[in-house]
Amino acid sequence: MIEFAQADREERLQSWVSASFADTPDPRLREVMLSLTRHLHVFLREVRLTEAEWEAGIAFLTEAGHLTTPVRQEFVLLSDVLGASMQTITMSNEPRAGATESTVLGPFFVEGSPLVALGSDISGGAAGQPCWVEGTVTDTDGKPVPGARLEVWESDETGRYDVQYEDRRIAGRAHLFCDDEGRYSFWGVKPSPYPIPDDGPVGRMLRAVGRSPMRAAHLHFMVTAEGYRRLVTHIFVRGGEYLRTDTVFGVRESLIKEFLEHEGTQPTPDGRDLGGRAWASVRFDIALTPAWDR
Ligand code: BEZ
Ligand code: FE
Repeated sequence: MIEFAQADREERLQSWVSASFADTPDPRLREVMLSLTRHLHVFLREVRLTEAEWEAGIAFLTEAGHLTTPVRQEFVLLSDVLGASMQTITMSNEPRAGATESTVLGPFFVEGSPLVALGSDISGGAAGQPCWVEGTVTDTDGKPVPGARLEVWESDETGRYDVQYEDRRIAGRAHLFCDDEGRYSFWGVKPSPYPIPDDGPVGRMLRAVGRSPMRAAHLHFMVTAEGYRRLVTHIFVRGGEYLRTDTVFGVRESLIKEFLEHEGTQPTPDGRDLGGRAWASVRFDIALTPAWDR
């Protein structure tokens, strides 16, 4: 129980800090800083943060900063595992009825992926079961979006993206354009679950709280077309592990898809000869939101 006089001292300090932001000229910045101050101080006072815990928190953030480079963003990872990334995406991408839902971008998107023709194999030799991916890109009324651009990227069956290998390979990523009827197709590999980079402070935090670093198996898409809002999403494998515990809270029911399994003796959709290997297939029909929609 905090004595009244102590509570009063804490209250007065919080009000003093709030007052320091009261004259912020930009109204939005003022709103953000005042709310941040209120929530931060309520949090500090609610958990009765000790000085040792404050030091540990600062050390955590310092380490996250030192680890962060153009290709390793520990702060974004922190935002991801706290659900802050997904909450921001959820607020900013209120889907209109029938539009495909968004999810996290993640750190493994790379600009400049190879352009491939429809029906091509984007795996670039990435290990994994061949998987035929097809669908359409339409607006929310079902009207095709010809020429929509799809960026697709995925890990191999060991759960690693090409950029996680030292040899600068390009594998499991490409971009392609829909045909005149908004159709697309390509060969990839069936997605596998993998851990987010967990060798830094974020990974230590997950271990300390008994959380798994695993993401549910998924295939990333970024879809752009003139006149439509950019869509960043993935599809997940129905029945796969970690759907309920995806460590970045990225799974949405509408994005869980049936990946069908086919014997090696079954003909492939495009007649490709897989040398008798079993293969998988999935259909993902994408509906874009018009750019003028909020
Ligand atoms: C990913 O799906 O690539 C990813 C997303 C968030 C954090 C780490 C990886
Ligand atoms: Fe991923």
